[in-house]
Amino acid sequence: MTHDAIAVIDFGGQYAHLIATKIRRLHVLAEIRQPEDPTDAFRRYKGIIISGSPSLASFGEDSTYNKAIYDLDVPIFGFCFGHQEMAKHYGGTVVHGGREWGPADLRVVADSPIFKGLGRTERVWMSHFDSVTSVGPGFEEVGYTSLGESGEPHRFAAIASNTLRRYGVQFHPEVDDTVHGDEMIANFVLGVCGCSPSWTMERYVEERVDQVRRQVGDRSVFLLASGGVDSTVAARLLGMAIGADRLNLLHVDNGLMRKDESRQVLEVFREFGLDRNLHFVDASDTFLSALAGAVEPEQKRTIIGNTFIEVFEREAKRLGIEGHLLGQGTIYPDTIETGGTKRADTIKTHHNRVPVIERMIAEGRVVEPLADLYKVEVRELGEKLGIPHGLVWRHPFPGPGLGVRLLCSAGAAHSEGLADIEPKVGEVAARFGVAALAMPIKSVGVKADLRSYEHPVLVSGDAPWEKQLELAASLFRHVPGVNRCIWNLAPGAPARVKPLAATVTRARLDLLREADHLVMEGLRRHGIYDAIWQCPTALVPLEVDGRGREFVIVRPIHSERAMTATPAQLPAGLVAELCEQILPLPGVSGLALDVTTKPPGTIEWE
Ligand code: XMP
Repeated sequence: MTHDAIAVIDFGGQYAHLIATKIRRLHVLAEIRQPEDPTDAFRRYKGIIISGSPSLASFGEDSTYNKAIYDLDVPIFGFCFGHQEMAKHYGGTVVHGGREWGPADLRVVADSPIFKGLGRTERVWMSHFDSVTSVGPGFEEVGYTSLGESGEPHRFAAIASNTLRRYGVQFHPEVDDTVHGDEMIANFVLGVCGCSPSWTMERYVEERVDQVRRQVGDRSVFLLASGGVDSTVAARLLGMAIGADRLNLLHVDNGLMRKDESRQVLEVFREFGLDRNLHFVDASDTFLSALAGAVEPEQKRTIIGNTFIEVFEREAKRLGIEGHLLGQGTIYPDTIETGGTKRADTIKTHHNRVPVIERMIAEGRVVEPLADLYKVEVRELGEKLGIPHGLVWRHPFPGPGLGVRLLCSAGAAHSEGLADIEPKVGEVAARFGVAALAMPIKSVGVKADLRSYEHPVLVSGDAPWEKQLELAASLFRHVPGVNRCIWNLAPGAPARVKPLAATVTRARLDLLREADHLVMEGLRRHGIYDAIWQCPTALVPLEVDGRGREFVIVRPIHSERAMTATPAQLPAGLVAELCEQILPLPGVSGLALDVTTKPPGTIEWE
């Protein structure tokens, strides 16, 4: 059967694949295409969407992409960079400036099929440095965003030429935080392009099973199984494709797991009958000695990824199953955030995408049946394949585990840029009547599809939840160099925090494990574990009191696909309990809640 299809041109934006996923959820086939693909490759599509990009449209011409697509009589919808490129192509202007991060209100000022059935004001999600400042002949402004606080509108946030069937929006309709983004995509795909919905998840499973069979042939697979939803669903799918006999599972305790986790994971595997060829190895010593002295986040990830492979090969040899393919439950964000598509920036190198694994992939020695799915699809698939609800809905836990939540430092302050940041932070804090301190460390974030490594700001004072979020948004908007806002839960307002020299040690991991355990227990006790998507706890080597004790940060978030996130509010009772339980832990001097959206902060601190 042939399906109506949409082409998504991947300019390396963090969300290109998400666009395809959203279209598939409408039961319409969507395929990712490269910008330089020949014009003929685009003829069979009923519509084209141009994604965002880490590149700047204001920078000049991207001579490598095929602009003949604009000559096709096919509707085109541009998002962010795609919107800017389209505006430029048809005679408009794009400038470097007018940046916006996170939520914005779009005022719709003209009729457009994209906004059919929607309100005159729509909550949308922004992440950009450049903006469109004029449009060419035949195009009109369909909407602008108002900043609220400063009152200055950002013009041309939505543009269109109904005659040419060309549409552009500065925001990202594909992310869940654009409240009616799905409707906008549906208006384009089903309305403007007239696609008929004939594509299903069952179809996806059949194709994937077929593909795995072709790739594996008569070989066997040795799957790294963490016990999380991704590797467990991958195990089920591989089992369906090649049979349980040819599937071996390896669960590695890398010393970076949660309290008591490996024991629980093995029990769960046994319970679900996934223990036929299940192997376990306690490799915590190997991992901790490999990590000794490492401080930089990317260096730690690379070490963790390499050590997984070292342990995998050692175990395969010990079990006499060398020559098996390496199986991984890699999902799409792992690839895209590692810069795994041609034009994407490296936000962070996921442990399952380190160079040694990339080499194995190139040699055809890796099988990853879920590599183009997002968490929400993996869960949908997990439920379809009969994996119990409790496992399917476990909070995601990163492969490098607590390794990315245990921040390390050489002890020197990261103070570059702080002199510029501090007065601006002071101004924003004064407007909200609170105290704020830019911190002399850095954490990873993502801004306009690019990796950022910038300062968090610690805020102390009383403010209702909405005000906390407003203050954070205001900081991100007005203070370059800041990508995170954390709210102090300890009494008083520290005037100064000092970095401590700290590396990956068992003692620090045990402290983090205990704090994390208290947070997880708290979420369960208050019945909100399921309502929260993920809640990392991080240990940050900063002291407030000159006694060498560290900071604990709790980051509850709501998300659907981990590509964007909003901070989740915890009940006041739970916050009070966490203060009582975590602040007295030996080695802890501070406790804060992270109230940062993604972008500009990533979910994990590293
Ligand atoms: P970030 O921090 O990039 O996280 O916003 C997005 C999602 O991915 C998880 N995460 C990882 N998962 N290996 C993984 O398997 C990694 O290196 C890694 N880093 C982040 C994170 O927990 C969140 O769910």
